[in-house]
Amino acid sequence: MKGVFPIDKLEALRTPLYYYDTRVLRDTLACIRTEAGRYENFVVHYAVKANANPKVLTIIRESGLGADCVSGGEIQAAIKAGFPAGRVVFAGVGKADWEINLGLDYDIACFNVESIPELEVINQLAAAKGKVARVAFRINPDVGAHTHANITTGLAENKFGIAMDDMERVIALARQMEHVRFIGLHFHIGSQILDMGDFVALCNRINELQDKLEAHRIRIEYVNVGGGLGIDYQHPNRQPVPDFKAYFKTYADHLKLRSYQTLHFELGRAVVGQCGSLIARVLYVKQGTKKQFAILDAGMTDLIRPALYQAYHKIENITSDAPVQTYDVVGPVCESSDVFGKAVDLNAVSRGDLIAIRSAGAYGEIMASQYNCRELPQGYLSDELV
Ligand code: LLP
Repeated sequence: MKGVFPIDKLEALRTPLYYYDTRVLRDTLACIRTEAGRYENFVVHYAVKANANPKVLTIIRESGLGADCVSGGEIQAAIKAGFPAGRVVFAGVGKADWEINLGLDYDIACFNVESIPELEVINQLAAAKGKVARVAFRINPDVGAHTHANITTGLAENKFGIAMDDMERVIALARQMEHVRFIGLHFHIGSQILDMGDFVALCNRINELQDKLEAHRIRIEYVNVGGGLGIDYQHPNRQPVPDFKAYFKTYADHLKLRSYQTLHFELGRAVVGQCGSLIARVLYVKQGTKKQFAILDAGMTDLIRPALYQAYHKIENITSDAPVQTYDVVGPVCESSDVFGKAVDLNAVSRGDLIAIRSAGAYGEIMASQYNCRELPQGYLSDELV
């Protein structure tokens, strides 16, 4: 089964481009609202890093989600799209002074702090402004996630967060500082996680840490479990909206949240992944000695996930229903890794056919580059193309 696209409209546009199906995005957001809304203390933020297209951000903001940012640029993009600063959280291992100052000026909800030197700088910069910054510590829970090695973040060997053994020492330090207020803990174990057992392992670890804190009479009001819920790259049509019901229920069932605590989520891929497709044109069909190549006008500069992570994206010829043939689908960039898929079955392609590379709404347009002096792809909402 192929996706549904306004082919006539797309034909008239310059390719490659990103096409966002707003119905899928809105259905996804409605499902998040319903499923998270079952639990009084759940607060969902959108991880802006997944896609910061202003039109996409606006729809997400309208649905009432907060914003999880990892740079000053993302804070600016979120504010510009209308996210209230009081619903913006700011994470990242290397926050520059100007970025911290920006967060302080907007009075954002929380800085998710990843090291003692960073805490000291936030305290100093807040002091200079006569402000008190709310901070949470990102704790490395040493929980592995069953996902690609490049996108697992919660293991002791990763660069992210503060080691569990240092937790109490760091909290004690923060409590002595006048210009930071310690409010809670932050975690994130990785991305594209489909095994709910990984999230259960995180809940169990947080329960242990909470017991430890309580034994020391440390009370926290804010618990942030990051993002990570995966999507079905194999079957974008079968399951366009991820299983948020199971996801939120996993936390409700396994995390021992206190009545005065709020539980925060930072979902990226699961919010925007399935609504987006990269649309490209076939430039040439080339017969190699052993294979046949479909050469597209889109390359790794437009969607880097296959080249960078050997990620799978479903590829469809949306122009033609001709009998299927097998192709290596490649881009025009001067790199051998500029390949979207090997031995891909497609309805036989001809020059000019439109190709959809599916499930590309997350970490697609936002990771595009201008290598080879290529132009950045434009993004269009389906609403704009009616
Ligand atoms: N919170 C933190 C602290 C994160 O580091 C991330 C993602 C998220 C939330 C959102 O995670 P999500 O819900 O999207 O899984 N470029 C890679 C993914 C990198 C994810 C980085 N951190 C890819 O294309 O697969």
